[in-house]
Amino acid sequence: MIQLEHPALFKTQSYINGRWVEASTGAAIQVYNPFDQTLLGSVPDLGVEDCTRAIEAAAAAFQEWRDYTAAKRSKILRRWYELQLEHVDDLAKILTLEQGKPVAEAKGEIRYGASFVEWFAEEAKRVYGDVIPGHGSDKRITVIKQPVGVVGAITPWNFPNAMITRKIAPALAAGCTVVIKPSELTPFSALALAELAAQAGFPPGVINILTTSDAAAIGKELTSNPKVKKISFTGSTRVGKILLRQAADSVKKVSMELGGNAPFIVFDDADVEAAVEGAIASKFRNAGQTCVCSNRIFAQEKVYDEFVTKLAAAIQDITIGNGMEKGVNVGPLIEPKALSFVETLVQDAVDKGATVLAGGKKAVNHDLIFEPTLITEPSTEMMVYREEIFGPVAPVFKFSSEAEVIALANDTNYGLASYFYGRDYARIWRVAEALEYGMVGINTGMISTTVAPFGGIKESGFGREGSKYGIDDYVNIKYMCWGGVS
Ligand code: SIN
Repeated sequence: MIQLEHPALFKTQSYINGRWVEASTGAAIQVYNPFDQTLLGSVPDLGVEDCTRAIEAAAAAFQEWRDYTAAKRSKILRRWYELQLEHVDDLAKILTLEQGKPVAEAKGEIRYGASFVEWFAEEAKRVYGDVIPGHGSDKRITVIKQPVGVVGAITPWNFPNAMITRKIAPALAAGCTVVIKPSELTPFSALALAELAAQAGFPPGVINILTTSDAAAIGKELTSNPKVKKISFTGSTRVGKILLRQAADSVKKVSMELGGNAPFIVFDDADVEAAVEGAIASKFRNAGQTCVCSNRIFAQEKVYDEFVTKLAAAIQDITIGNGMEKGVNVGPLIEPKALSFVETLVQDAVDKGATVLAGGKKAVNHDLIFEPTLITEPSTEMMVYREEIFGPVAPVFKFSSEAEVIALANDTNYGLASYFYGRDYARIWRVAEALEYGMVGINTGMISTTVAPFGGIKESGFGREGSKYGIDDYVNIKYMCWGGVS
């Protein structure tokens, strides 16, 4: 049981059609704190039948919700946003306990998550159509945008709050209703959001949250049930491909925010100190467990030694430990298999000749904490070059020319985030245009914000979240041709 200022935020039931419910089978999932493996509580382990019920509730609620005026939907969203800010401390505590990230970072995530709700409360009022000059003198053309219907949102454990709000705030703003499947590792943040949504005044069935350990079966139901009109998924490229195939049968609208293999390039004219700061921010956020974390760092020959020395020093300043403790910057990885994967990557690099300049192993006395690690002189033959690391390991590759580093940076199936540091403005333009990525950070390691379109290309997916573009994924465009206007 988690001690909170407002204990009502700690929910241990799923939320369907405005009711807190158990699984129809009575099954439950136990949820543990990744820092010390203490039991936090349990939530229902719902099955397909429960999922179908939630979809039906969302489909029924859609008939009413889509007809609310934009102003009325906006007001409820705004209230939900305010409630999230009023409960930042409790929401962050829940998040840290179930996910492990430091509580200061968790508070950042709650504010980041809430900012999507604020933004789309405003955007709800701006789902404008068009009037297009007709193709005949008696013709008039109008375009309207309508909500797609029921949205199935499947969200990950690394951002248990913000990945939900980033998907469902635009959906709700547009007039859609939602069925959300959060990760079974971090369900409490999702349920706390549902409690606040109920307080904010969303009608029953508009927001439904399914907790389950059977991601495959629920994913199948969400992608195949004809009442679901849109799927939005954040997670691995492997699972994204499965969902895409499944959604193809009923030709659903789909958004995919999948894996990344972000390059972080330091050119020889870069402000090296700033680059180190950016690398620390983008690499070690959430212990390296974000899709936009820099994965492969490339430093140009002339600044390689200076960059690596300064990065090693900055890594020594990182404090690892319990995310609930003040001053901790890096917490545990989410589960044992995540830690073993990171160990495998580092071992592979060492076996193939790389040097470990900092960290390199599991922290003493902490089961799931991996020490912030710096690997120098890695090669393209190593797993750290190809794989999404999803852990606090920074391999720094050496390069000599712009053409060489562009080729290396683009040598991946992924295309989510990329970063580079340099001062020559012509090169900045050339490189930004040449990088095959949906997002480019130029002289910054932090690119995530509500106001910009978040999303990838290639096997990192498609669709954009946040910004003025974020609502597009939740509306259908309808064109009306008016004849006989003479
Ligand atoms: C993610 O890792 O999927 C999201 C990261 C972000 O929004 O910054």
